[in-house]
Amino acid sequence: PRVAVVFGGRSSEHGISVVTAGAVLRAIDRTKYDVLPIGITREGRWALTVDEPERMAITDRRTPEVEDVAESGEGGVVLPLDPGNREVVVSEPGSVPKALGEVDVVFPVLHGPYGEDGTLQGLLELSGVPYVGSGVLASAVGQDKEYMKRVFTSFGLKVGPYVVIRPREWEQDEPAARKKIVDFAGEHGWPLFVKPARAGSSIGITKVDDIAGLGDAIAEAQRHDPKILVEAALRGREIECGVLEFEDGPRASVPSEIPPPDTHAYYDFEAKYIDSTPGIVPAPLTPEETAEVQRLAVDAFEAASCEGLVRADFFLTVEGEFVINEINTMPGMTPISMYPQMWQASGITYPDLVDKLIQAALR
Ligand code: DAL
Ligand code: MG
Repeated sequence: PRVAVVFGGRSSEHGISVVTAGAVLRAIDRTKYDVLPIGITREGRWALTVDEPERMAITDRRTPEVEDVAESGEGGVVLPLDPGNREVVVSEPGSVPKALGEVDVVFPVLHGPYGEDGTLQGLLELSGVPYVGSGVLASAVGQDKEYMKRVFTSFGLKVGPYVVIRPREWEQDEPAARKKIVDFAGEHGWPLFVKPARAGSSIGITKVDDIAGLGDAIAEAQRHDPKILVEAALRGREIECGVLEFEDGPRASVPSEIPPPDTHAYYDFEAKYIDSTPGIVPAPLTPEETAEVQRLAVDAFEAASCEGLVRADFFLTVEGEFVINEINTMPGMTPISMYPQMWQASGITYPDLVDKLIQAALR
């Protein structure tokens, strides 16, 4: 089969997507699959890229860009939009579009808006091209931290306290919106986490210790999304669990624990990727706790109608309860990311994982 690995994209997680793509390109079995690497620039231009995973890694504390590996000049790659026609073409200005052949499946290694949120999935549905991972609805639910919590709550999963400020609330009565957050802090205490509703990799998130820091935190979150979410800090341990869809249904990996990083306020972008805070796999949990979090991770997968894969992130509170923080329908799969590490510890190597994901999409 021919696999288009699509990566980069218009979201703030562009660089992480390129790093994940490098790892996926390195791991795909070339004796089994023909690979077409396609990058999407931050501006949204689709381009054929080099197939050189070593150029898609973090260097000098910087994530790579699609522009650094793009091959096809000023033009771009066009996916088919006619159902049944799977031909991919590259269009160069002033020349006849060149066919790149047909693809059997797309692996959208994209994080965040315009990639992990259902928009790209909708395009692929329209084209009739199979793709790895969740469909339109699950992707959209998994991208929006408000609706994600609403779905989880309605399926009986426990979520932490939060409050949402919608764009219209902010525009129409800013003081009232601020008061809503301050009242929330009065009820749940500081610190608070101020987050863009639709973003990822902790980008745009600020841990706020008191009212003095609130204004900057709101402005920072709003730079990424006009809708923001404020969460109470939960006292407890951060536990993650992977879910992978097998022929007979979804199964959970061994869970992992993210210890609080000592040089960062929390598990933020730098702690995650630049200083690569190591996670503990398997998480040191009792057998009962492990079984519980695995069950909840599969419940979360089912609640959002996920397909293929998901990483579910929890807090194990000091009261001994698992509270779901979020899911990621296309979790980071950089060499140091937790999702592949948890599967590795569950007996599935990275190349095997990539193969299983592609096979699930082709079924
Ligand atoms: N959103 C990032 C890539 C993750 O959750 O792994
Ligand atoms: Mg996320």
